[in-house]
Amino acid sequence: MRIVTIVGARPQIIKASALSRAIRECFSDSIEETIVHTGQHYDENMSEVFFRELEIPLPKYNLAVGSGSHGVQTARMTEGIEHVLETEKPHAVVLYGDTNSTLAGAIAASKIHIPVIHIEAGLRSFDKNMPEEINRIMCDHCSTLLFSPTYAGYNNLLKEGFSPQLHDKATVNQPNIYHCGDIMYDNTLYFSRKVKSMHCKQDIYGKDFVLCTIHRNNNTDDSQRLSSIFRAIIEMSRHMRIVLPLHPRTKKMLPIMLGKDFVEVLHSNDNIDIIDPVSFLDMIYLETSASMIITDSGGVQKEAYFLKKPCIILRPQTEWVEIVENGNAAICDADFDLIVDKSGYYLENPPKDYPEIFGDGHAAEFMCKKILECI
Ligand code: UD1
Ligand code: UDP
Repeated sequence: MRIVTIVGARPQIIKASALSRAIRECFSDSIEETIVHTGQHYDENMSEVFFRELEIPLPKYNLAVGSGSHGVQTARMTEGIEHVLETEKPHAVVLYGDTNSTLAGAIAASKIHIPVIHIEAGLRSFDKNMPEEINRIMCDHCSTLLFSPTYAGYNNLLKEGFSPQLHDKATVNQPNIYHCGDIMYDNTLYFSRKVKSMHCKQDIYGKDFVLCTIHRNNNTDDSQRLSSIFRAIIEMSRHMRIVLPLHPRTKKMLPIMLGKDFVEVLHSNDNIDIIDPVSFLDMIYLETSASMIITDSGGVQKEAYFLKKPCIILRPQTEWVEIVENGNAAICDADFDLIVDKSGYYLENPPKDYPEIFGDGHAAEFMCKKILECI
C-alpha cells in the first residue's frame, strides 16, 4: 500500500509523526509513506524543527507555497498536490485536521479519484465563519476513511448523513467512519516519556507559571478581542508569571492591532515572558510544568487535558466539547472578566478528574490496520 501524507501547518507535522512512527514500528512491510509539505508554515521553528525532533521522514516534495490569502494559498497547493499525486499514483492520501493544506489535499485527491483518509474527522464548531470549519466539512464529505478522535465527532458525522455501516472496501460513495481515539494522545504519551529523561532549556520557568498561546485569526485580527485578551494577561501577571510562545501571526498582528507602545508595555513586564515558538518537546515540557494553560489553539486545549492541566479557552466555542462538559476547561472567549475570574478559580481549585476520552494511545496503529483492510 502506497500512501501520500500531506502536511503544511505546524500541528499537522506533529500529528504526522504518530502515523509515521506506527508505520515504521509495525507496518513497514505493508505501508510505504511519501510525505508532501505544502510549505504553508515555513519558519524553522514552525516546520523544520519538528521533522528533526520527532523523527518524521523528510518530505520528498516541498511545494513552498508560503503565506497568502485563502484562495491564492489553497489554489497553489491544490495545483502542486495534484501534480505530485499524478506522479506518485498512491493508493490513498492521508490528510490531517482542518487547515488550508487539508482542503487543498482533499480537492486535489478526490477529483482524480484517489481515496482520501481524513484524520480528525467529524469535529465541528458549528461556526462557518471559521476557515477551519469550512475546511473540515469539505474534507469530510469527500473522504473514504474518516477517523474521529471523539464520540462527539463521530456523532456529528452521523448527523450529517454518514452511515455507521462498515464496508469491507470503502469508497468515496460508501465511506467508513470510525471512532478511534486521538493520535495526538499517542504523541503526548510517547514524547512525554522522552521529555522526562531530558534536560530542557525551558526549565528556567520552574513550576509556578501559566502557559499561554494565541493565534486564532478571529483573535489576532480583531483589535477589541486582542486587546481584551492581552489586558487580561497583564492583569493576571500581577500575581502569576505568564509564558507565551508567540505564533508568527500574532507577532505580526500585535503592533498593527494594539500599537507599538502596547507591545513595549508587554515586553517590559517582568512577569510576562514572550518567547519564540518552541519545539514540541519543549512545549510538552512547558505544558507539563505549567499550573494552568490559556489558549485558543485546538491542539493545546487537548494537550492541557492529556497532561491534566486546567484550560482557559479563548474562543466562543470548542470542538472538544467533552473537556468543557467534564469541567476541565472553561470557555472564556475574549472576555476580560471571564478570563481573569475563571483563571483565579482554576488556580485555587484545580480539577482532579480527567477521564480517558481520547483513546488508549494506540490510535495510529488502529488507523494503519483499517487503511490496509479497507482501501
Ligand atoms: C493555520 C491554520 C490554522 C491552524 C494554524 C496552526 C488555515 C486557514 N489556518 O493558521 O487552522 O490552527 O495554522 O498554527 O489553514 N507566518 C509566518 N511564518 C510561518 C507561517 C506563518 O510568519 O512559518 C505568518 C505569516 O504572516 C502568515 C500568517 O502567519 O500570513 C498566517 O499563517 P497561515 O498559515 O495563513 O495561517 P495560521 O494563522 O498559521
Ligand atoms: N506547539 C509547539 N510549539 C509552540 C506552540 C505549539 O510545538 O510554540 C504545538 C502544540 O503542542 C500542539 C500544536 O503545536 O501540538 C498546536 O498547534 P497550533 O496551536 O499552532 O494549531 P492548532 O492546534 O490550533 O491548529
